Amino acid sequence: MSSKHQSPQVKFYSGEEIPLELHKVRIVQKLNLVPIERRLEALNEGGFNTFQLTTLDVFLDMLTDSGTNAMSDNQLSAMMQADDAYAGSQSFIRLQKAVLDVLNTKYLLPVHQGRAAENILGVAYVKKTSLVPMNYHFTTAMAHITENGGRIAELLYPEAYVINSDHPFKGNMNIEALDEIIKRTGKEHIPYVRMEASTNLIGGQPFSIQNLRDVRAICDKYEIRLVLDASLVGENAYLVKQREEEFKDKSMAEILHTMTGLADLVYFSARKLSSSRGGGICTNNLKIYHELEALVPLYEGFTTYGGISTREIEAMAVGLYETLDETMISQSPSFIKYLVNESKKKGIPMITPAGVLGAHVDAMDFCSHIPQTEYPAGALAAAFFLVSGVRGMERGSVSNQRDEEGNETYADMELLRLAVPRRVFTLSQISYVIDRLSWLYDNRELIGGLKFTYEPPVLRFFMGKLAPTSDWPQKLMAKFRKDFGNSL
Ligand SMILES: Cc1ncc(COP(=O)(O)O)c(C=O)c1O
Repeated sequence: MSSKHQSPQVKFYSGEEIPLELHKVRIVQKLNLVPIERRLEALNEGGFNTFQLTTLDVFLDMLTDSGTNAMSDNQLSAMMQADDAYAGSQSFIRLQKAVLDVLNTKYLLPVHQGRAAENILGVAYVKKTSLVPMNYHFTTAMAHITENGGRIAELLYPEAYVINSDHPFKGNMNIEALDEIIKRTGKEHIPYVRMEASTNLIGGQPFSIQNLRDVRAICDKYEIRLVLDASLVGENAYLVKQREEEFKDKSMAEILHTMTGLADLVYFSARKLSSSRGGGICTNNLKIYHELEALVPLYEGFTTYGGISTREIEAMAVGLYETLDETMISQSPSFIKYLVNESKKKGIPMITPAGVLGAHVDAMDFCSHIPQTEYPAGALAAAFFLVSGVRGMERGSVSNQRDEEGNETYADMELLRLAVPRRVFTLSQISYVIDRLSWLYDNRELIGGLKFTYEPPVLRFFMGKLAPTSDWPQKLMAKFRKDFGNSL
């Protein structure tokens, strides 16, 4: 093997492509798989919104990877040596060092989670006339821009919206469209351009470093800040190594430094990036640091803890170093690839190529008989929970917000996201997911639509309540009992 930085790979004699766990389980948590009758009651109680379920009713929690990745023994032991101090804690100094080593940025403002960083950016930079171009929105990133009176523009290439694709970088920003929108809007109205690593809402799809360089060149041309949402930058960097020729022999640290070096400001949710809690805003630009610094004590806490417990700060520092370990960072993408590819073999419509953070089922195709007005992705998420006890997340029109006139804005894609947090599930659990998904696909005509019964004005997908448009859940349950007998 000539390569300096080989990705971890274990080939099976049988030739099968099976992702092998390169860790062992030392602490376990018991799960509940309650009968389908109880699952239907739970859905009714939670308004057919998987955010409203409690974990007592959930078997495999595939809602999100946020705050649910497994922590390592090293993270847990680091938490025991936390230095509790309001100001000047040694835990924060260790975190600063980790941020410098892993992300190569000198200045760090800690915040309690990713959206807190988005709030600070919004308050500091977004005005009523602002437009923020981005590869694609994330719910909270967009909400903090619109809350401050601004607008967003999503600038992906058409290939990003192709469900069945082998394009390696569907998260790339459309460079021509970026240039054009800046000219049209006027650079003075563009506080920053936002690039999201591993674009969450279009199926966890990465961008290439070449694309980031092209975005940087446009930002330089117009003197506009480039902001990198690095919540899933570890996996994006891993896929760069897998898919971008220039980087195939580079280390994770080299790739990450190249990415962060192209941005003026990097922010992240540590709930994702470092398998801990917290978040951060990082930069090498002292002017930017000073522009944002005062907002941290105002909204978060003193600038050496930012609303995060010192124990979590220690876990964050260790977790950041662990993103450089390819056996760790490749675990979730390799399980996702297995889940996507095996589901495809059974004819289930999935977003391809497999991305990061979760497997994404195309609800528009799966439930082609349900109109977008009746939320096919929300209906599929509820139906899948009913038949499996697996909790996924709707990533479609329910997750969209209404426009200024109060009209529905239908999502480009209606997706059921099945998150695969790092090192949490076993392969037999993933096989169970594929099995129940395949049964549901064969019985998909039994799934019906949903309608809102309670709709909050902001981020409605979290607290909103819905109801089925007919008695389809009862019919689906009856078919399940017929086919599976007394099985859970
Ligand atoms: C890409 C991206 N940005 C920002 C956030 C917000 O982070 P948090 O949930 O920690 O507030 C998330 C959360 O899932 C995310 O996926």
